[in-house]
Amino acid sequence: MPVTSTATHTPSFPQQALSEMAETFFREGCVLIPNILAPDEVAALRAKTDEYALKPDPASKHTSFAGNAFVLRYCHEIDPLFQALTTRPDILAIAEAVLGANPQFNAMNVIRNGPGQAITRWHLDDVLEFPLPAEIPRFDARMRMPVFWMTIQVALSDIDQLEHGPTQYVPTSHYSGRKPSESLEFEGHGPQSVFCKAGDVYLTNHQTWHRGAPNLSERVRYLMQIQYAQRWADRRFRGVA
Ligand SMILES: [Fe+2]
Repeated sequence: MPVTSTATHTPSFPQQALSEMAETFFREGCVLIPNILAPDEVAALRAKTDEYALKPDPASKHTSFAGNAFVLRYCHEIDPLFQALTTRPDILAIAEAVLGANPQFNAMNVIRNGPGQAITRWHLDDVLEFPLPAEIPRFDARMRMPVFWMTIQVALSDIDQLEHGPTQYVPTSHYSGRKPSESLEFEGHGPQSVFCKAGDVYLTNHQTWHRGAPNLSERVRYLMQIQYAQRWADRRFRGVA
C-alpha cells in the first residue's frame, strides 16, 4: 500500500524516496536515510555534547546516564544549533511521512558512549503496546502496525563497524506481539546491525526488538535522538488534552 504523504515541509530529497523510506520503515521496523547533516554541523553538535559530558554536573537537568553511557538531555534548550534541528524541513518531513501531518516535537537528547559503554540489553521501549496471546503467532503482514510516536536517530559519529556499537534490531519483530526472547529470531530474521556514517539518520520502530551493541573501539560513539508524536498522543500523554 503506498504512503499517502501529508508533508507540509519540503524535504531536500525526492518525495518518492521519502515514500519508499516510510514503506521500508513500516514493513521492516528500520530504515537508513543517508546524508542529512553536514560534517561541520555534526562536529559542532559533538563539541557541544562534549562540553557537558567531560564536566558532568549532577545537578543539571542536561546531565544523566543510561547504564554507564552519558546522556545529554533537553538539548534543544542548550544551543540554537540543537533547537534548529527540531524544525528542519528534512527532519519534519521524515516525521510527517511516518506520523502524518503536524507531528509534535517532544524530546531531544544525545547518547555519548565511551569505550565499553552501551545499553546492551535487548528490549522494546516502555511497554509491549500490541500483545498477542500464545495461540496467535503474529500480526498479519498485510497490516500496518500503528506508530503513535517515533525517534529519529541521528549519527554524530561514524558507526560503520560492529566494534563501534551500532544499533541492532530484529527485522519485522514489531509484528510478533511479543517481547524479545532468548532466541532473538523472528520468522527467519536474526539480529541486524545498523551501520551508518556521521550525518546519516535512521529510524527504528521502538516496538521492534533492539539494543545498542557495546562500543568495543576507542572511538566515542555519539547518537542524537529527536522524538516526535502524533499531536493527539502528545497532548493526551502530557496531560494537556
Ligand atoms: Fe530502546
